[in-house]
Amino acid sequence: MATTAGSEADSTDEHSAAPGGAAGEAAGTTAAGTAAGSAASLRERGKTVHGEPANAGHRVLAPDDAEVEAYLETALHVPTPSRDRAEPPAEPDTVAVLDFGSQFAQLIARRVRELNVYSELLPHDTPLAELERRGAKAIILSGGPNSVYDVGAPRPDPAIWSGRIPVLGICYGAQLMARELGGDVLPADRREYGPATVTITADDGLFDGLDRDQPVWMSHGDSITRLPEGFRPTAQTDSTPFAGLVDERRRLYGIQFHPEVVHTPRGRDVLRNFVVSIAGARPNWTAANFIDTTVAEIRTRVDAHAAATGSEGAVICALSGGVDSAVAAALVHRAVGDRLTCIYVDHGLMRKKESELLRATFEQNLGMRLLMVDARERFLRRLAGVEDPEQKRRIIGDEFIRVFEEEAARITSVAGRIDFLTQGTLYPDVIESATSETKAAQKIKTHHNVGGLPADLRFQLIEPLRYLFKDEVRTVGLELGLPEAMVFRQPFPGPGLAIRIIGEVTAERLDTLRDADWIVIDEIKASGLYRKLWQSFAILTPVRSVGVMGDGRTYANVVAIRSVTSEDGMTADWAKLPYDVLGRISSRIVNEVPGVNRVVYDISSKPPATIEWE
Ligand code: XMP
Repeated sequence: MATTAGSEADSTDEHSAAPGGAAGEAAGTTAAGTAAGSAASLRERGKTVHGEPANAGHRVLAPDDAEVEAYLETALHVPTPSRDRAEPPAEPDTVAVLDFGSQFAQLIARRVRELNVYSELLPHDTPLAELERRGAKAIILSGGPNSVYDVGAPRPDPAIWSGRIPVLGICYGAQLMARELGGDVLPADRREYGPATVTITADDGLFDGLDRDQPVWMSHGDSITRLPEGFRPTAQTDSTPFAGLVDERRRLYGIQFHPEVVHTPRGRDVLRNFVVSIAGARPNWTAANFIDTTVAEIRTRVDAHAAATGSEGAVICALSGGVDSAVAAALVHRAVGDRLTCIYVDHGLMRKKESELLRATFEQNLGMRLLMVDARERFLRRLAGVEDPEQKRRIIGDEFIRVFEEEAARITSVAGRIDFLTQGTLYPDVIESATSETKAAQKIKTHHNVGGLPADLRFQLIEPLRYLFKDEVRTVGLELGLPEAMVFRQPFPGPGLAIRIIGEVTAERLDTLRDADWIVIDEIKASGLYRKLWQSFAILTPVRSVGVMGDGRTYANVVAIRSVTSEDGMTADWAKLPYDVLGRISSRIVNEVPGVNRVVYDISSKPPATIEWE
């Protein structure tokens, strides 16, 4: 599926492939000691400086719709679905990426998908029979932090070397190929981390269309020192004699460099040569195909359920204002039409014009049944006098569930029953690695003591996005006709503006913050920076300061501005916004928002600061 967000993805990937990160993986390939260091640093990922999980308590790993989904799973007593493996979608040709622990493993799958070939990440020891059952046309072995000669180093099913399916080994994957088939791999005299030039010495189809000398990204401490029988070298660097190897008879290919990172400019061509030309996978993973198959599958499933139970096949979906639930809802709507009811709980903690955008998109443009629940009063009442951030979160989660229960019960009384609940689960949730905390499970703990729906309400889950990465969700959203303003939104936390008002949340303070926040977004959009930033927003501080307006002294609120770049929300840098953009934001806020006379810019990175202030 060609992603319209391709260039955006590239720029963020650059971030993920930064030298420090790549060295982290490579460090582990040198010796047991450093491997342990690398494993430790992996474990440290996602921790605060105090060693707690960075999303401890009520914070979530991924923003957007995750929070709403956790509320729902709790409210509906739906167990967190088992997500260790996803069944592949029925139609497209598949490339299996076997995950040997590289931080780039997901990126390989994404890169393949950018070639319009469906790719999935599977455990490193997935048996060949299972790969064949899944219709894999090609297998890619990822890199990884181990040394192939480590005791307990991850190994694939030896049957994958049989030649039945073409295999491309990358870095550790290439070393595995060499070692398992009788060659030698040893710690290198000169390790290679970072940019290098590889010289292509033989034509094996993998490097078709490439010049002889190629800039590539290297990240290894071990090297292949002797090829197994049946292999010949295809590429080398100054310090690595076997930077490329091939056994054409068995269609086994190995490369020491990383084609998946942006620092290997022709890496995409190498992947295309392997996946399309050598393995013959058809590039039929497109947004349009995905939509067609998914819509057909949902319709068949809902119809079958309705026929079997004599029900209407009613489906509900909670809209949060984020892109995932929006795209999931639009897909399901295409499949079941008016049998879908979307519920949007307006807790009054949303950004300015949020409700209008939702109504315009879903009700007016897409003609969907949308229940907009005005719960602003109820939330405000329960938040009155509350200053503690965690208590705010608990109250908001709890109240959300109550409102949702009431609405679901109302729909049930009309439709007879609700059969399905739609959720915007994404592929990274499905393949979530052992290093990240399980988001839903963690959040469920937060809310597990609150009441659920009556026991006779039992739903099945529809998760139409469970095969998609975020940028693919956006592509599908656009293809479905969702407006760009909806599809490319910056993340917004479930508890909304409540956790950006430091201290008590009141209607008046919400209005102040909403207006200031609107100006931030407006100016960031006008400067063309919106899509490059992870988040940009205003915070209403409890501080008041002296100012002068006209001839009078003022004593008014201080608003802080936060704007960050980030790959996944786990770490973040403060954005180096141009002074003139900051200047315009500041003067507009002071001039246009009553009760604010000072604007400050937050220049803290995460860690140690979090993105949100509460
Ligand atoms: P922090 O503040 O932990 O935020 O650095 C990381 C990302 O998560 C979002 N966030 C939340 N999202 N409920 C959510 O749904 C929450 O309670 C919450 N707290 C933080 C935050 O906006 C950022 O993108």
